[in-house]
Amino acid sequence: MKCKITGEKITPFMSFGKMPLANGFLKKEEFEKEFFFEMEVGFSEKLSLFQLNDFPSPEKMFNKEYPFYSGSSSYMKSHFKDYADWIKKNYLSTKSNLVEIGSNDGTFLKNFVGTDINYLGFEPSENVAKKAIKNNVNTKNIFFNKDSIEDLKNFKSNTNVICAANVICHIPNLKDLISSIEILLSKKGVFIFEEPYMGSMFSKVSYDQIYDEHIFMFSITSIKKIFQLYNFDLIDVIPQVTHGGSMRYVVGRKKEHQISINVVNGLKEEQEKKLDKVESCIKFKDDCEKSKQKTIQSLKEFKSMKKNIAGYAATSKSTTILNYCNIDSTLIDFICDTTEGKIGKYSPGMHIPIKPISHFKDQLPDIAYLFAWNHKDEIFSKESDFKKNGGRWFSHVAL
Ligand code: SAH
Ligand code: TYD
Repeated sequence: MKCKITGEKITPFMSFGKMPLANGFLKKEEFEKEFFFEMEVGFSEKLSLFQLNDFPSPEKMFNKEYPFYSGSSSYMKSHFKDYADWIKKNYLSTKSNLVEIGSNDGTFLKNFVGTDINYLGFEPSENVAKKAIKNNVNTKNIFFNKDSIEDLKNFKSNTNVICAANVICHIPNLKDLISSIEILLSKKGVFIFEEPYMGSMFSKVSYDQIYDEHIFMFSITSIKKIFQLYNFDLIDVIPQVTHGGSMRYVVGRKKEHQISINVVNGLKEEQEKKLDKVESCIKFKDDCEKSKQKTIQSLKEFKSMKKNIAGYAATSKSTTILNYCNIDSTLIDFICDTTEGKIGKYSPGMHIPIKPISHFKDQLPDIAYLFAWNHKDEIFSKESDFKKNGGRWFSHVAL
């Protein structure tokens, strides 16, 4: 395996086995032709960068029926409003230019509709881009890269903020991404992005953050080292509670900004925890294997006690759990979810039926595996009756 940035040879430290597309929910007649790849992970010590070895092509993953909508969580809607307000307050002024990479259904950008900010979203998945356009959010239905920004005359060297959330780790060609950012940013412009944080994944053993779309798992050290290669400084980092522990990174052209003490402290903390070294990955591997055994054992025990088990939320993350732990419909009867494009289909690889949320109330399982554990507050408050009526929430991470 080679580091996707430096090209140096690295040895994968772990395999999760054969994996389907995390968002590849499918119909019965598609079972036979289902796509699988070997999900191995490695770590480049030079860049302290956690990465997948093999992965499906972006066009295979981000297509005209991509079933993830940012607006499916009301907490995320309010988070994106706060994110937009924070950017407006700190980095934008009248008539500033703003670009979002991976704008999905427009949940973040809709906070700029009707303002004097000149904004534009890049979103390759047609169904979600269409939803944004229908809601009057300026969206280009295309991957963000050097070719697709070619005709953005007014934005070149003139973009105050390029922002993103939960998408930079999806982009295999980071060299092209950073060159495109270089072309668009103004002298003092900033690139701001939020991504799941490797430190949180290690401490929670939330290995389900690893799936085909998440080609990289970033840390403060890795982001500093990557951007340093291309004459950019990491100027600020702010931890976020979203998606089970994320980090907001602010990057700017070299020597154009003061570096926040948050960066210095964050780097020091990562060094102390050895997050910059492969040693932490070896410990993580061991933790994943233990977590897998514990999960299988618990589910089998529930079954032997004649308990019914359902899954709550057919997340991309659940694809890793189900396939890595080999959990099929003999253990989990169904998974309920709010997304129209998933309901009536089957889960990738393990083929557990996906049912509407109403099914959860109708069937009232004894145990619910909360696959959207990152949205637990929102879900626990919606489903407070479940526990009151004797139901039990379960997860491989602490709830
Ligand atoms: N930013 C949203 C969506 C995250 S899901 C949120 O945080 O909720 C990732 C999104 O990025 C998907 O909608 C996917 O289609 C899009 N995407 C993937 N690769 C991309 C690329 N190279 N350029 C722009 N968008 C991309
Ligand atoms: P999320 O954890 O945001 O993302 P991912 O799929 O990338 O792991 O989960 C999104 C899925 O969870 C989506 O299919 C909708 C579903 N969901 C519910 O069914 N009910 C809810 O209350 C929430 C917040 C999400």
